[in-house]
Amino acid sequence: MSPYYNSLLENNKKWVAEKLDQDPEFFAKLANGQKPPLLWIGCADSRVPANEIIGALPGEVFVHRNIANMVIHTDMNMLSVLDYAVSILDVQHVIVCGHYGCGGVHAAMDEKHYGLVDNWVHHIKDVYRFNKTELDGIKDHNARFRRFVEINVIEGVQDLAKTATIHSAWQNKKTPTLHGWVYDVANGLVKELITLKNE
Ligand code: CO
Repeated sequence: MSPYYNSLLENNKKWVAEKLDQDPEFFAKLANGQKPPLLWIGCADSRVPANEIIGALPGEVFVHRNIANMVIHTDMNMLSVLDYAVSILDVQHVIVCGHYGCGGVHAAMDEKHYGLVDNWVHHIKDVYRFNKTELDGIKDHNARFRRFVEINVIEGVQDLAKTATIHSAWQNKKTPTLHGWVYDVANGLVKELITLKNE
């Protein structure tokens, strides 16, 4: 095997040793089950690792990632993750996190073809169409791209609020609160875009 591949297994052993050094019960506690306070719906992009950018440990974040952090009403994968997180794990917060420089969002702005992912990007093109007046009004390409990333997150949070899972949760309890974030890969900082609460 390649040195790179072998290093992954070596890194795993080192990581286990470090964790046990800090807390000998670290894995024993996790083996008892999970009660994460947060569901993260983010992009598959390698530069946006959910746990790392918010300083969360194993056991703290239930994670769903797809290209361009899309919330799509027919996506059984996303809907199942959402329902399990909200109805069974009782997460207190759901964060939809997009990021500037998102390749999936950018692909929805151009006419190039990328293969199978074109089907997925089609959903993002719908988001553009729904917000065409605002987006077409931004002449600078990069500014328009950044705003499109933000709008895609805001639409995602609003779509989450319309799911049967969130509807029934909000009939029975105050939680979860829904948040829309955008992460800047160029400086590591998060900006809040929208918060929807059951009030
Ligand atoms: Co992305």
